[in-house]
Amino acid sequence: MHLLIPAAGSGKRMGSDRNKLLLPLHGRPILAWTLLSAAAADQITWIGIISQPVDQPAFQVLLQDLSLSKPVVLVDGGSTRQESVERGLQALPADAHHVLIHDGARCLATPDLLNRCATSLLSDGAALIAAIPVKDTIKVVNAEGWIDHTPDRSQLWAAQTPQGFTVAQLKACHERARIQGWEVTDDAALLERCQLPVKIVPGEETNLKVTTPSDLAIAAWILQTRFQE
Ligand code: CTP
Ligand code: MG
Repeated sequence: MHLLIPAAGSGKRMGSDRNKLLLPLHGRPILAWTLLSAAAADQITWIGIISQPVDQPAFQVLLQDLSLSKPVVLVDGGSTRQESVERGLQALPADAHHVLIHDGARCLATPDLLNRCATSLLSDGAALIAAIPVKDTIKVVNAEGWIDHTPDRSQLWAAQTPQGFTVAQLKACHERARIQGWEVTDDAALLERCQLPVKIVPGEETNLKVTTPSDLAIAAWILQTRFQE
C-alpha cells in the first residue's frame, strides 16, 4: 500500500516560525512520530512525504536519523492541502492502485490504524476515512453569531486521516475539483462532491491533529503515557 503524507503546511495556528512538523515532541520532530508509525505498519510499502522545498533539507536530515527500511520519496507540495495532495498523487509510482493519505500532523495514529485502513481498502476497494463519533453537541451558527440549529449528534462523526482511495478515483475527483474550483479540507469531501460513496473505519481518540500549542502539550502527554506502559 502506498502512503502519501501531506507535510507541506506552515503551521500558522501553532504560531511558530517554521513548519510545525519540525517542532520537537517527546524528543523527536513531530513528523518523525508519523513516519515511525508508518514504518511500523506492515501494510505500508512506500511513503511519499509532500513537503515545501524550503523544509526538504531538514526532512532529509530527519530521514537520515530514522533510516527507515521502506522507500521514502519527497514530493513538492502546493499552497493548499488540496493542491499538495494532488501533487502527491501525480508523483505516485505507476504501479500504485490504492493510496492512503495521512496528515503529517496526525503523528499519534497507531500502526494498527494504518494497517486496518489499508486492509479494508484492499479487501473491498471502497473509499474510506478513519473517524470517531463526536462527543460535543455541535451548533450550526449564522454569520451574526446566532444558532441556526443543532444537528442530531448520533449522526455526527469527526473526520480523521488516514483516508484511503483507489488512485484513479481520487485523481479524477481532484481534477474535477480543479476545473470546478471546489475547495475542501479533506479528500473524502471531494468524493462526496462527486457523489461517490465513502465509508467510515473506526478511528482513534488519541489520533489528534496537532494544530495549536495545546494540542502539542496533549500529544506530549499521550506519548509519555504510551512509553510508560
Ligand atoms: N498541508 C500540506 N500542504 C499545505 C497545507 C497543509 O501538505 N499547503 C499539510 C500539513 O503539513 C498537515 C496537514 O496538511 O500535515 C493538515 O493541515 P494543517 O493541520 O492545517 O497544517 P498547516 O496547514 O501546516 O497548519 P495551519 O493551517 O495552522 O497553517
Ligand atoms: Mg492548514
